[in-house]
Amino acid sequence: MQGNVRPESMERITTDVLAQAFIEEQVQALKEQIGEDKVLLALSGGVDSSVVAALLIKAVGKQLVCVHVNHGLLRKGEPEQVVSVFRDELKAELIYVDAVDRFLDKLAGVADPEQKRKIIGAEFIEVFADEAKKLSGVKFLAQGTIYPDILESDGVKAHHNVGGLPEDIASRFELVEPVKLLYKDEVRVVGKALGLPDNMVYRQPFPGPGLGVRCTGAITRDRLEAVREADAIVREEIDKMETPPWQYFVAIPDMVSTGIKDGKRYMGWAAIIRAVNTVDAVTASSVEIPWPMLTRIRDRIIAEVPGINRVLWDVSEKPVSTIEFE
Ligand code: XMP
Repeated sequence: MQGNVRPESMERITTDVLAQAFIEEQVQALKEQIGEDKVLLALSGGVDSSVVAALLIKAVGKQLVCVHVNHGLLRKGEPEQVVSVFRDELKAELIYVDAVDRFLDKLAGVADPEQKRKIIGAEFIEVFADEAKKLSGVKFLAQGTIYPDILESDGVKAHHNVGGLPEDIASRFELVEPVKLLYKDEVRVVGKALGLPDNMVYRQPFPGPGLGVRCTGAITRDRLEAVREADAIVREEIDKMETPPWQYFVAIPDMVSTGIKDGKRYMGWAAIIRAVNTVDAVTASSVEIPWPMLTRIRDRIIAEVPGINRVLWDVSEKPVSTIEFE
């Protein structure tokens, strides 16, 4: 298979024609590498793993087994979309794991951000490993590694696999990494050429721990649901901008404040809207959203999301404020 260094002669994939040529070449290579064996893939619904899944479906069809873990921290409609695109439309073998209770029970009462991240990461690996154990005769593990992951692993950061699978799991399989020499923009062009839906191909970055880092402090199911609903409204409205910001979302801190409803005190949460532009996520600037759009978002969140009595606009920049709240 291809090495880990992108040849200088490799043309940047910017058009559908170039993407189709890449797809043809990769499908052939995947057929040769995999033969008659089975391949396992942790499918998050992000663009990288989705493109890998679509390539593998084209190359080896039913030999691919996708595992989609719903940890309860995904955005509204995401697990349903993964099932509908991959199982219903692309006819992939997809194991959908509803691990919502498993994750939320483990996270109950845990307020420390690092502790939350660790629990989510470790639980993900356990759920995935449990599923992998149930399958026999799987020789290959596919991963949505992309070129920046390889470049970063040369420096201070450890190479991170899709879904954060540790070496001892990865080393049990032979790896299949068909997009490892591509940059993110190229993965998107290939995804489009493979016929994946735009909201999968062009989706904004979304952290592995999902909405868990936007429901600050100890996660409760009701506040998590409020984050999910408010996030869906913010995305729906800001997506109407001609050029949407790089990342935009809602966080709901573990805090209540006084409001008034039907003439009575009404304690509620505050939804904080954040929209940023950045090149590399190392620094980020806050983005101006047209006032009518902002007030519409405010009105919809107040009217449609139970438990919220206040909507705030975050003008912070990175540094000093990170993009995510935890
Ligand atoms: P911060 O909050 O560090 O975020 O300014 C920079 C970018 O990284 C994303 N992010 C994460 N992605 N796992 C991920 O896969 C994480 O734990 C994580 N934390 C932050 C964040 O959404 C932003 O795009």
